[in-house]
Amino acid sequence: MPPLNAYVSSLGGSPIRSLLSLAQDPDIISFGGGAPASESFDVEGIGKSYQRVLEEHGARALQYSSTEGEPELRAAVSERMTLNGLHTEADDVLITSGSQQGLGLIGQVVLDPDSIVLTENPTFVSALQAFALSRAQFRPVDTDSGGLVPEALESAILQYSPRAVYLIPTFQNPTGVTMPESRRREVADVLARYNVWLIEDDPYSELRYDEWTMTPISADPRLAHKSLYLGTLSKVMAPGLRIGWVRGPQEVLEILATTKQGMSLQTSTIDQLAAVDWLEHNDLDAKLVPIRAEYRRRRDAMVEGLDAVLPDGYTLNTPMGGMFLWATLPEPFDASESVMDAVHAGVVYIPGMQFYVADPKPSTLRLSFVSNPVDVIAQGLERLSTVFR
Ligand SMILES: Cc1ncc(COP(=O)(O)O)c(C=O)c1O
Repeated sequence: MPPLNAYVSSLGGSPIRSLLSLAQDPDIISFGGGAPASESFDVEGIGKSYQRVLEEHGARALQYSSTEGEPELRAAVSERMTLNGLHTEADDVLITSGSQQGLGLIGQVVLDPDSIVLTENPTFVSALQAFALSRAQFRPVDTDSGGLVPEALESAILQYSPRAVYLIPTFQNPTGVTMPESRRREVADVLARYNVWLIEDDPYSELRYDEWTMTPISADPRLAHKSLYLGTLSKVMAPGLRIGWVRGPQEVLEILATTKQGMSLQTSTIDQLAAVDWLEHNDLDAKLVPIRAEYRRRRDAMVEGLDAVLPDGYTLNTPMGGMFLWATLPEPFDASESVMDAVHAGVVYIPGMQFYVADPKPSTLRLSFVSNPVDVIAQGLERLSTVFR
């Protein structure tokens, strides 16, 4: 075989994906992936939207279209962001094929080889994968129960001169931690003082189980020319649609769009039109009410059930939204060693080790509480109890 790009071929895949492929077995109950509950998808409504789009738009829906995205969809997502406290015009938005494509594009446009990216530790592995393609280096910033510690952020900026800071401030993946408003302002104060990009990834904020909303850090006007914010329909509508977006300064969006052209020309025309039709014909807030209630029930069932499953001395977060519980086992338990025992018992979780950019903690694990109904959660926990007890 002729040679391949040596660096990219050396990277290897995400260990999480390999673990999840093990869990494809229908007899295994998966607390692994970040997949929304399939039964929450509005199959009928989305079907009607595709039909309407074909009837109303005909060939337009099947034709090539712009790299930036369908104007109606850019308008719809910018209205939603504005409602959620992040003032946005349609021109400030580039539609992407899932926010994962946005992360990949940002990696290519913002990062040079050896650029430093500061991250929460642990953090979302696929963002690391995206940025690693640009040969970026990662450095952790200290976090506590309120997320990134502003003083630690400032020290890390001074120490490493990073190109970017990648954050998931709301219902973080994997820890579920949410940064309070006061902390967001402090983080914005730090970022405003330095010439560094904020990459703010926000897939989960609509999945909140309490009444409050959190203002994105990117809403701070001082960050207007140094923030790239990512959103997605994956967690509120359906991930199979592959619709996400990047909000950022227009001059950067232009470069992101040129890069996207080189990779994929555009995001599917018909999928974008169907998404915007669905958003126009449905009240997203009303649709989210029963989903939030059900996810809250599932979270509570898993939190309660885990008490009889995890070894004495464990700690567990109870996130106010999102999809994940993050547990720490007492010494000498090692969640990455136990995971194969769990798979043999018919249940899978993700060992926390996989999410760290430094100092991985073998005692940690991530469990998704949204993907299974309460009775299946109970069954999965029963299987898990044979592993840790
Ligand atoms: C933090 C975070 N960012 C981005 C994504 C990618 O989402 P999508 O590409 O489906 O929009 C995910 C998916 O799980 C995620 O957890």
